[in-house]
Amino acid sequence: MALKGRNLLSNLFASSRSKLTCTYKCGNGCFGDCENTSGNTYFGDLMSRRAALRAGGLTVVTVGGGAALAACSSEGSDNAAGSSSSAGSSQKTSEVKTEHVSNEGMQFKPVEPNTKDEVVIPEGYEQAVLIAWGDPVIEGAPEFDPENQKPEDAEKQFGFNNDFAGLLEHPDDENRMVYVCSHEYTTEPQMFPDYDAENPTEDQVKIGWAGHGLTVLEVSKVEGSGELKREFGPLNRRLTATSDFKLVGPAAGTDLVKTEKDKKGELVKGTLNNCSGGVTPWGTILSGEENFDQYFGNAKVDDKKAQKSLERFGFKDEPSARKWEKFDDRFDVSKTPNEPNRFGWLVELDPFDPESTPVKHTANGRFKHEAGNVHVLDDNTVVCYSGDDSRFEYLYKFVSSKKYKEGDKKHNMTILDNGTLYVATFEGNSKDDEIDGSGALPEDGAFDGKGKWVKLLTSNTDENKFESHVDGMSAEEVAVFTREAADKVKATMLDRPEDVEVSPTNNKVYIALTNNKYRGAAEGENGRLEDVKEYAPIKENKNGLVMEMDDDHAGEEFTWNLMLVCGDPKEASTYFGGFDKEKVSPISCPDNLAFDNHGLLWVSTDGNALDSNDGLYAVTTEGDNRGELKCFLTVPAGAETCGPIVDDDRVMVNVQHPGETDEATYENQTSHWPEGGDSIPRPACVVVWKKDGKIGIEG
Ligand code: FEO
Ligand code: CA
Ligand code: CA
Repeated sequence: MALKGRNLLSNLFASSRSKLTCTYKCGNGCFGDCENTSGNTYFGDLMSRRAALRAGGLTVVTVGGGAALAACSSEGSDNAAGSSSSAGSSQKTSEVKTEHVSNEGMQFKPVEPNTKDEVVIPEGYEQAVLIAWGDPVIEGAPEFDPENQKPEDAEKQFGFNNDFAGLLEHPDDENRMVYVCSHEYTTEPQMFPDYDAENPTEDQVKIGWAGHGLTVLEVSKVEGSGELKREFGPLNRRLTATSDFKLVGPAAGTDLVKTEKDKKGELVKGTLNNCSGGVTPWGTILSGEENFDQYFGNAKVDDKKAQKSLERFGFKDEPSARKWEKFDDRFDVSKTPNEPNRFGWLVELDPFDPESTPVKHTANGRFKHEAGNVHVLDDNTVVCYSGDDSRFEYLYKFVSSKKYKEGDKKHNMTILDNGTLYVATFEGNSKDDEIDGSGALPEDGAFDGKGKWVKLLTSNTDENKFESHVDGMSAEEVAVFTREAADKVKATMLDRPEDVEVSPTNNKVYIALTNNKYRGAAEGENGRLEDVKEYAPIKENKNGLVMEMDDDHAGEEFTWNLMLVCGDPKEASTYFGGFDKEKVSPISCPDNLAFDNHGLLWVSTDGNALDSNDGLYAVTTEGDNRGELKCFLTVPAGAETCGPIVDDDRVMVNVQHPGETDEATYENQTSHWPEGGDSIPRPACVVVWKKDGKIGIEG
């Protein structure tokens, strides 16, 4: 049961993310050498330092986001938004004492920061678990018995660590809906009694494969409340690390993706590390394959260029943490060198056709896709935004050449195969020496500027024509080695771009930038790649940012500003869209985003660095209350808040990795949520509703 090797590293992490989470969620991508070693960034840094020297002032970094922040215990706090005590705050806003009315949708009493082993919700609300790891999804599957797990059962039960959540209308039954979620990763030491990380059994490995992927589940509405109940039904489906997925687009059928077992390079077994995603207007689910490198061992190949490409994604020449390569050669890169190229894609699943084979849209590029979120323009052009969630990685968008046709799903499911992939470059509009790393606003009063989208690849999959826009790379190389293509065009390095959502009310694009402890870190520090910039102005950014972008969606230009500089609002480094900081909740490490019917932005967090559990927060983006932010719920100790869905009737969150603390094992659990007592923790989906009335409306 002991964890060995690279699992047992000292805690080098800025956020509260545990060692166990780091190992099993992202393959320890959170520390050590950065995957991005492209030269452009050093060049940029050099230029900005020269400019600063020419301007006669060395940048002096004060304190800022790197300072240890006070614990979030709010005992005695009577702040409107549950912020920790504001005593000592130097904010000029303290004279504002008038009664404040929050916008519709966020008229709830905020949840205080806490470390409870439960889901904490506002007064007047109720909650229930919809489904948890191991619950039957396919009729005939046994009830969960953690002491007696079997691969053939796990393939029919709810997978582990549900992340993205989508909720769709049921096609045939108005009393039902369809819940779809991704299962990002498995945490074997917590899942199995007596787990030996060096020598997992074949059954444990196969249960791990079954614990990944996606679930489609019919749910029934409960009359008079927002509650949903799990049901069996013909749409229920599990997709796992061994299900069939079709490769489509510029990489499909090329030598880069062919293997002994798939000589045509068209059919992949499985999907891996499905993080967040999106629901398309045509009723399908998009899912991002994120930290796929961690599943592969022995990443050593003869070809130097191929080796460099493996390293750009973080592959290592060592056994993988889960040792899957012992049971299937496709996870041994030295034996199956092209298998890694078959992961890292944007997946599309039709949840209403249980017989359908989901596709991997290679025209959208291969990187650590956090998600894919589409926006349909007035002329029916489709834009799909996607972040590459690693430190100092890039933001991408895909602009379709095909138009959305209402009611024509077959056509619409080919839209993401035809169009142009872009990567973003950002610049600030304030002087470099005004960005000092502390979070102090520059003279113009905003972290803001403009940017350009740079073309990488144009795909016409219908006619099998593909065009690279990157010198020295073919179209299929741009598709498969997208990070390297983006390096070449000098894309802008961001602080972990995660979820991207377009507001349905103002059409602006919102981007969660989770954190980056190496942003502006001391020169020479392992992991530092770039100094602070106006788009990433916090030195050793621990608490993250939320960017607002006014994008010419189908075009190549945009403007941007940082709407939120996250943290404890009593810290001078924070910024909440200009709103009174005494009236907002502390927030740390924004990750997933969603909009509700009121146009409010909802932000869930991953890795709270303020000594509180992660949570879900509502934010006003427009009007007098712009920047008002309240915590709606928090998840149990060690968990991450994922997949938020907010409508008038309910809030749904996926509670991922409860109790995943540093040394947690099956025998030594630090959470017993949701069943309590001595039970083992189980990742689950929670539904919250208001006892009387609509979500976030008073009365
Ligand atoms: Fe899977 Fe980027 O969080
Ligand atoms: Ca500015
Ligand atoms: Ca995420």
